[in-house]
Amino acid sequence: MSNSKKILITGGAGFIGSHVVRLFVKKYPEYHIFNLDALTYAGNLENLSDIENEANYTFIKGDITDETLVDELFKKYRFNSVIHLAAESHVDRSISDPLSFVKTNIIGTMVLLNSFKNLWKSDFSNKLFYHISTDEVYGSLGHTGLFKETTPYDPNSPYSASKAGSDHFVRAYGETYGIPYIISNCSNNYGQNQFPEKLIPLFINNIINNKPLPVYGDGNYTRDWLYVKDHATAIDLIFHKGKLSETYNIGGFNEWKNIDLVKLLCQQMDVKLGRKQGASEELITFVKDRPGHDLRYAIDASKINKELGWYPSVTFEEGLSKTIEWYLNNQTWLDNITSGDYESYYQRQYS
Ligand code: NAD
Ligand code: DAU
Repeated sequence: MSNSKKILITGGAGFIGSHVVRLFVKKYPEYHIFNLDALTYAGNLENLSDIENEANYTFIKGDITDETLVDELFKKYRFNSVIHLAAESHVDRSISDPLSFVKTNIIGTMVLLNSFKNLWKSDFSNKLFYHISTDEVYGSLGHTGLFKETTPYDPNSPYSASKAGSDHFVRAYGETYGIPYIISNCSNNYGQNQFPEKLIPLFINNIINNKPLPVYGDGNYTRDWLYVKDHATAIDLIFHKGKLSETYNIGGFNEWKNIDLVKLLCQQMDVKLGRKQGASEELITFVKDRPGHDLRYAIDASKINKELGWYPSVTFEEGLSKTIEWYLNNQTWLDNITSGDYESYYQRQYS
């Protein structure tokens, strides 16, 4: 096993994590990538079946809140870097079960930080704890303005509060114990392998099955959408070239009101499914709003653009089209995921 870099990626069986794991395993054969994932409802090893036998890849099933396990893993493998993505990630679930978000997102991050600190003590040269966070920590924008790295934290949901808490602990461990860290805060991702509880894959699946498209409130909420592979590229760049103790905002330069996005999705789906134009739009149903629903997120990604030369490579129309095609060509993936617990979650959330 190469000694050059032993990277622990947490949450690598999830949506974004699987894209990051694949990118690192393929691009850096000299690194060894360890993927620690508890395989919750959101984790799926099918996402990584194409790279599971690579020599520089090891999967470990385990929970980041398990102190004994995490400490043993750090001692055994001596990870010199961590890219921390494991989290409870869905806002609606955080409203019905906030405590599980505190456990994984705050306690889990603390457990990783402690093991990292205890292993390396003060020998932190060439080490990095890279924490993946979200733009939701900044709260909600009005109709104008952008989130900058200097925007004060103002989280509104149990999910975003738990992510904000974890960001604060990472920073505090940097200040107090000197651990070398970087944090990035990204906007809404979309693309293949996203669990169909988030807006885009949920609506693709419902359109395929001719089910109602539950738009919260009046649909006039705005998000900034980024293709997941562009997020993975940004993470790669920040991991290798980012400055320690800094935060980088990552966004798509791509704001959409939910209702406009849903209409575009419906139009593309009608074409791909050979349905008459307007057929999928008839499925749109306005439903009760999400409590504490943030009006608008939009990222100022000029820092990562100027300092590291990153810019999204895929336009939204292209990315959405690729995403729809992936879901249409991977019906078994969707069927496996939407059997069992998914149906009872769906009934609780939308009945
Ligand atoms: P996801 O829900 O698809 O995946 C999360 C992964 O973490 C799953 O594989 C799950 O099994 C694993 N996990 C959950 N709890 C765990 C635990 N206790 N121990 C070990 N593994 C555990 O999430 P995602 O959308 O891929 O998000 C990944 C990260 O990126 C999260 O930290 C999230 O906050 C952040 N983020 C997501 C987005 C987005 O739009 N999805 C945007 C910005 C930031
Ligand atoms: O901004 C980054 C965040 O984006 C990430 O940190 C989160 O992990 C990720 O889940 C996402 O959070 P959102 O709450 O923005 O994503 P979601 O797909 O759940 O919702 C997007 C928008 O669509 C939001 O305004 C709520 C709305 N929506 C969502 C669902 C699931 C609906 O109108 N109907 C729905 O059924």
